[in-house]
Amino acid sequence: MKALVVGANGLLGQNLLRAAPRGWELSGCGIEEAPLAPGLPADRWTRVDLSDLDAAERAVREADADVVFNAAAMTAVDACESEPERCARVNRDAVRAMARAAKRLVHLSTDYVFDGRNGPYSEDDEPNPLSVYGRVKLESERAVFEESPDHLVVRTMLLYGTGRGLRPSFVDWVRANLEAGRRIPVVGDQVGNPTLASDLAVSLWALVLAGKSGLWHCSGTERCSRLEWARRVAARTGLDASLIDEVRTEDLRQPAKRPPESGFRLDRISAVAGVRLRGLDEQMDAYFEEKKNVRD
Ligand SMILES: NC(=O)c1ccc[n+]([C@@H]2O[C@H](COP(=O)([O-])OP(=O)(O)OC[C@H]3O[C@@H](n4cnc5c(N)ncnc54)[C@H](OP(=O)(O)O)[C@@H]3O)[C@@H](O)[C@H]2O)c1
Repeated sequence: MKALVVGANGLLGQNLLRAAPRGWELSGCGIEEAPLAPGLPADRWTRVDLSDLDAAERAVREADADVVFNAAAMTAVDACESEPERCARVNRDAVRAMARAAKRLVHLSTDYVFDGRNGPYSEDDEPNPLSVYGRVKLESERAVFEESPDHLVVRTMLLYGTGRGLRPSFVDWVRANLEAGRRIPVVGDQVGNPTLASDLAVSLWALVLAGKSGLWHCSGTERCSRLEWARRVAARTGLDASLIDEVRTEDLRQPAKRPPESGFRLDRISAVAGVRLRGLDEQMDAYFEEKKNVRD
């Protein structure tokens, strides 16, 4: 069986390659010249800028894969507010083009499709995005299912994990600052489920192997604020939590509105064999172990 990972150099992309079951022939594509993940040779890599819709569709068609994972996206939510056209092209129009070409697409979406007034949310709850990124992601979900009901859309949130050439994760940012004795401002009024990227990758493969289609929520099992998460990092690493200052979302003056009371209900995905959904402490222990083995 053949799988193509689009955005294979990103956080989730690298984790999908690492989590691939034995026997799958893997290829990758992305905006960079070459693959970052070990184990993916250069001849299994196609350079594609998804803002070129024809190139996006061609890359998927030519890969002729049984499954295509779309882990590529313009993920800088504040930049999406100032560049809505680029956001729509990469995060929606290219997704439709790939959904048209793929036999089976696994596309990633986000909790930002919700307004965060009354989370946690199930797949049946009504979306109401607050930002350009959230609105475009919701439109991408609809585009995927218009192309084929056999595709999958998996919403996730608050991803962190390991891989090469990635930005430091929230956990690393907290840890590095506390180690250096620096005070850090952390929001206490945004709630969601932190999700280890390698757990998400295992769960995405499990959905594929189980032959699933449709809409799924997938995240870690524990719902907490960023502030609580930062304090748990301190507790887990023996660092000084009194350096963490609580701030409110409005203090940050971010261009894109975030859903405050978010989070997922995981009843649907919990019933699928092979998914890996864990609480925060267990996830973070796994993360620190992974960091010993995966080169940055
Ligand atoms: N991270 C989260 O907390 C989170 C939460 C909810 C949902 N999601 C969704 O989960 C998926 C994976 O997220 P992630 O955190 O793994 O993202 P990521 O690390 O930012 O990876 C995204 C990849 O897409 C690439 N990309 C961006 N624009 C592109 C373009 N025009 N053409 C080709 N490739 C392009 C990026 O390249 P560059 O790095 O060079 O730009 C990067 O390699 C995305 O769909 C995201 O929206 C993420």
